[in-house]
Amino acid sequence: MIEFEVVERDGLARLGRFGTPHGVIQTPALLPVIHPDPDRQVVPPTEMRSRWGISAVITSSYIVWRTPSLRAAAERDGIHGLLRFDGPIMTDSGAFQQHAYGSVEVGAEEILAFQNRIRTDIATVLDLFTEPTASHDEAQRSLETTLERASAARSARAELLAVPVQGGLFPDLRATAAASASKWADVLAVGGVVPLFEQYRFRELADALAAARPGLDPGRPVHLFGTGHPMTFAFAALWGIDLFDSSAYHKFARRGALLFPEGTVPIDELREPVCRCALCAEVPLTAVAALPGPERERRIAVHNLATSCEEIARVRQAIREGTLWELAERRACAHPALRAGLNEAKRHASVFLPTEPESRRAFREITSESRHRPAVARFRQRLDVYRQDLPLPERISRIPLRPEFLGRVPTQDRAGRPISWQADTPLGPVPLELTELYPVGPYLGLAEFDEPAARPSPASVSRELAERATFDAELDRDWTDAWTRRQVEGLLRWEYGAVTASALAPGVVGARSRASGRLRDIQEDGRPLFVVGRDGRARPTYFGATRLLPLLTEGRSTVMVDDDAAPFVAAGRSLFCRFVVAVDGQLAPGSSALLVDRSEALLGVGRLLLAPHEIPRFARGVAVWVTSHARRPVPQEEVVPDGPASDSVPDRE
Ligand code: GUN
Ligand code: ZN
Repeated sequence: MIEFEVVERDGLARLGRFGTPHGVIQTPALLPVIHPDPDRQVVPPTEMRSRWGISAVITSSYIVWRTPSLRAAAERDGIHGLLRFDGPIMTDSGAFQQHAYGSVEVGAEEILAFQNRIRTDIATVLDLFTEPTASHDEAQRSLETTLERASAARSARAELLAVPVQGGLFPDLRATAAASASKWADVLAVGGVVPLFEQYRFRELADALAAARPGLDPGRPVHLFGTGHPMTFAFAALWGIDLFDSSAYHKFARRGALLFPEGTVPIDELREPVCRCALCAEVPLTAVAALPGPERERRIAVHNLATSCEEIARVRQAIREGTLWELAERRACAHPALRAGLNEAKRHASVFLPTEPESRRAFREITSESRHRPAVARFRQRLDVYRQDLPLPERISRIPLRPEFLGRVPTQDRAGRPISWQADTPLGPVPLELTELYPVGPYLGLAEFDEPAARPSPASVSRELAERATFDAELDRDWTDAWTRRQVEGLLRWEYGAVTASALAPGVVGARSRASGRLRDIQEDGRPLFVVGRDGRARPTYFGATRLLPLLTEGRSTVMVDDDAAPFVAAGRSLFCRFVVAVDGQLAPGSSALLVDRSEALLGVGRLLLAPHEIPRFARGVAVWVTSHARRPVPQEEVVPDGPASDSVPDRE
């Protein structure tokens, strides 16, 4: 069984790792398709590794099997000997040749046994490639066969096994395929999509991924067959695709096409040296065009691999930064079809919401469609809950969102009745006390620069408020303290619900930053209970957690830790998945949680890396980063619960 571990994530996308007999694969990873005949490899895998750090490759076991000389060599020296590569090798099964040539001559059992014999690191079940033109009946019958073969393959192989997820264009079949494959697969391999890539049918690709994704076990790496164009990597990663494979770098090179994340450029039309990568600096692309056939093809393939690896690195960096949606939107501008695919993804918000992080460092608008990202859908959902909790306000008034207003907005009229203010934000009207929350607070959009708001004087603020206010309030008074109390109460209600917030709020005060006027922390007797981050969220300190815990309703915001791990968590060590006993289902990746032992005593405060439904799916890796703890020393007979892999996990905050 695979031991897959997630170390960082942005939504469904993750940075992960798993071991194979020939080394670790760090995901997301590009597995270039290489020809099994070393004499026909345009770039040998060892060169791929030394040039770009490519750790793993994929090749066709079927081509090896049906070519007597290759078969003999592989049976003798293993697939690693044949390819002259000692890193992880995944082998495909022949389904692609069935797609390309209409049939394969090998049986499912035989090709699996062959993959076992040649000691591949990841074997693939021989699936039936379902074309997008297949009827529901055909797709269903093929799927049944693929799944029977997968079940049999599992019994015939103990080592890593990839199970293709077919189902054609039918959401019900994709869903069944994903859930069934998850029973047997170490690697889940979404297939049958090459024609969708080739024909730029990204909207249908999005629908296929949306149908499959909820059934795919989150504890397994997901492979997408045919993702070779760097333009599509960010899009694929958004869905939690961990492994990309394609022969695109070579296929496009053969017809003189250069791959860029912004699209494809025919080399014969190139008159300017548009790429200055190390290789293109040696021989500019404009000169490559004139080289003799094989050298030209090789140089283009190398350029294509270089841009692909660069783009994988950008995707990985974006996952670390929490900017993958932004990258995907920028890439989607390469082609309207890809943009349509991304729009379709946004229509499937329910697929993304279970892993949608609580906040990110920034929200940068890339296009007018940026405001349909799942982050906004999540915020609106929570806003509905917040509003349900509220007594209907006496008065609602609209206000433009400007910091100058903050100390000037009255919280009640002269008769003492509360006034509720809604700010006009790029995401629509939002209660003024919540406007520092992600995604509203960090929202950086066109309007800010296109129609800049004039900086009003305090007097003009009062005048403007007086015009907007249809009620009688003291507009000249300094309302800063009253507003701070309103905001503190609002933020606590946002996190913990009305009951807990109203129990907590009377004893605390909010402190604002002198420089920015933003709420900085929430204190009791001068000690911070909550620190307000750049995302506007109030996050408990350890002291705050001790106050909060008795007031929480029904396990809200808590994670229960098993006895074996409790002393380590209390000493500040990360909480690993296998020691989580229970977790509040309302938490999300990035949420702050109170970590308690089985007797519900507080051990520490942490931030979730994984979503609640994901945690039980992982045998390895961190579930919660511990950010503050009871400061008990680590127990004497120190054992790091998860072995050396956990040492690679950086400390947080
Ligand atoms: N290569 C490209 N698409 C596919 C697919 O659907 N199945 C398999 N096994 N290999 C592929
Ligand atoms: Zn280049």
